[in-house]
Amino acid sequence: MSGKPRVCVVGCTGKMGQVICRGLLASQEFQLVAGVDVARAGDDIGQVVNVGHIGIPVTTNLQTTLSDAKVDLAIDFTVPHAVTNNVAICLQEKVPVLVGTTGLSPEDVEKLQHLAGKTGTPVLIVPNFAIGALLMMEFCQKAARYMPHVEIIELHHPQKIDKPSGTARRTRECMMQAMGRADVEDPEQVPIHSVRLPGLVAHQEVIFGDVGQVLTIRHDSFQRESFMPGVILGLQKLQKIKGLKIGLDL
Ligand SMILES: NC(=O)c1ccc[n+]([C@@H]2O[C@H](COP(=O)([O-])OP(=O)(O)OC[C@H]3O[C@@H](n4cnc5c(N)ncnc54)[C@H](O)[C@@H]3O)[C@@H](O)[C@H]2O)c1
Repeated sequence: MSGKPRVCVVGCTGKMGQVICRGLLASQEFQLVAGVDVARAGDDIGQVVNVGHIGIPVTTNLQTTLSDAKVDLAIDFTVPHAVTNNVAICLQEKVPVLVGTTGLSPEDVEKLQHLAGKTGTPVLIVPNFAIGALLMMEFCQKAARYMPHVEIIELHHPQKIDKPSGTARRTRECMMQAMGRADVEDPEQVPIHSVRLPGLVAHQEVIFGDVGQVLTIRHDSFQRESFMPGVILGLQKLQKIKGLKIGLDL
C-alpha cells in the first residue's frame, strides 16, 4: 500500500456514515475514495455530508465499487441484516473491513469468523468506538471483581434498532468474564435496562451495589463525532490483524 490507505464507507449516507465520511475527508492518514449505500444513489458524497462537491458519487454495488475505486479498507455502518453479505463481499475482494454496525447475532459473528478465518483477511468488529466508553468497560471489568451485584442502564435515541445495545452486551460479557461466570449470555446474571427517548444519543450507566454503598460508572456520547478517533484507531489496528477480532483494545 503506497500513499494514504484508500477507504470505502458502506452505509455512507446514514447518520454514522456521514460523520465517518466527513472525518475521513479531514484525515491526514486515510483517504475517502468511495461510499456505498442503498439510499441516495448517484448523489455526490460531499453534498450529502455538506462539505460541497467532491466528485465521489454514492454507489450501490459494493463489489464493483471495491475494485473500481481500488479500495484498501472498508468500514460498515449499515443495518445488522446487511453486514454478513457486505463483509463476505469485502473478503472476496480481499479488502479488510471494520464493522461498526451493532446488533449482530452470535450466528452472524460465527459466520463472519468462519469466512475471515478461511481467507485470513482482517475483520474487526467494534461495538463502540467512543474511547470513553471503552475505558468505562475496562473500569467496569475491574469493579465487577469486587462488587458483583451490578445492573446496566443503556440509553439511546429512538431510531436505534438493536436492544439491548451492543455496548451493554459487551460490557456484561466483560464483567461476567471478570467474575469468572460461565454463561455470559444469561440475561438474569447482569440485567440490562434499555431506554429509547428523543434527545438521547448514546449513554450508559453501570450501577454496582453493596452494603451501604453504590458505585456508578457512566459514559455519555453527546454527538456522533465522539466515535471518530476510535474509528481512526480501528483502521490503524485493522491493518495489523489476521482473521476476525472483536473489540478495540486500548
Ligand atoms: N460501533 C459504534 O461505535 C457505533 C456508534 C453509532 C452507531 N453504531 C451502529 O451503526 C449502525 C448504523 O447506525 P446509524 O445511526 O448510522 O443508522 P442509519 O439508519 O442512519 O444508517 C444506516 C445506513 O445504512 C444504509 N444501508 C442499509 N442497508 C444497506 C446495505 N445493504 N448496503 C449499504 N447500505 C445500507 C441505509 O440506507 C442507511 O443510510 C447501527 O447498527 C448503529 O447501532 C455503532
